[in-house]
Amino acid sequence: MVVSCLSTFSFHDIAGKNPNWALQVYPFKDRAVTNDLISAALAEGARAVIYTADVPVPGLRSRDRRNGFTGLVDSVPYEVAKRVQGTIWDAWSESETWDDVARLAESLSVPLAVKGVLHPDDAAQARAIGAAAIWISSHGGRQLDSAIAPLDVLPRIAETVGDDLELVIDGSPLPGVDVAMALAMGANAVAIGRPAMWGLAAAGDIGVARVFDLLVQELENALILMGASSPSALDNSYVGIAASLRLDQWPEKGIVRS
Ligand SMILES: Cc1cc2nc3c(=O)[nH]c(=O)nc-3n(C[C@H](O)[C@H](O)[C@H](O)COP(=O)(O)O)c2cc1C
Repeated sequence: MVVSCLSTFSFHDIAGKNPNWALQVYPFKDRAVTNDLISAALAEGARAVIYTADVPVPGLRSRDRRNGFTGLVDSVPYEVAKRVQGTIWDAWSESETWDDVARLAESLSVPLAVKGVLHPDDAAQARAIGAAAIWISSHGGRQLDSAIAPLDVLPRIAETVGDDLELVIDGSPLPGVDVAMALAMGANAVAIGRPAMWGLAAAGDIGVARVFDLLVQELENALILMGASSPSALDNSYVGIAASLRLDQWPEKGIVRS
């Protein structure tokens, strides 16, 4: 489980519910804030730090504007609000460099993942500065709508650093077969963001559990039809069959979710 530094609950409360967690952190202009958030998370047992590199400034998010979504009025990011005065957007660092990330990696007692990587050269750079993982992500296209899809860049990144770094990928791989596809292409883990929120909005915690159930069912179905004994059995040789199964699992092609 990954916990955003912008969570509206304290690290302590979250860790009390699930000790198996990692901190996601944005870099702040005031490095003391970033470092203090990390120290507080590690003190509560965070097992890794995920450094988000793709939001130096928020994207224009025209769809959000069109839909009148300007953030949740009542939501206060608990840990950040304790440490930052004023608007959080203003507190973010717009000028991080790889040297800054390298210093962070060096200072940490737990593994560091760099989130928001979409280019093999950046993946190689993350490896060079001592990251343990990269998180291949376009932030769901919410930073730059036209960004390359994470799945499209995964094979080149896997070829470049796949033997040295753990590869996490996100980007709403909705049917489980997309999870299988990502694993076959070299990802070690697939993360979800919005689907959990959609489940939450539809039916609270039961809805979130249902989202995971569906993904697992679809993944298991895909594995059986692909002839793979487990997710870890997937490799490049399964990409072709995963591609044809995708056509079956996308909802508009016939699967009815209930
Ligand atoms: C409610 C919500 C909060 C998010 N908060 C963060 C965050 O604090 N830091 C971050 O790097 N990404 C954040 N993300 C982005 C997700 O980690 C993920 O990159 C993105 O949603 C794409 O995955 P998806 O297509 O499964 O949603 C958030 C996403 C959602 C839906």
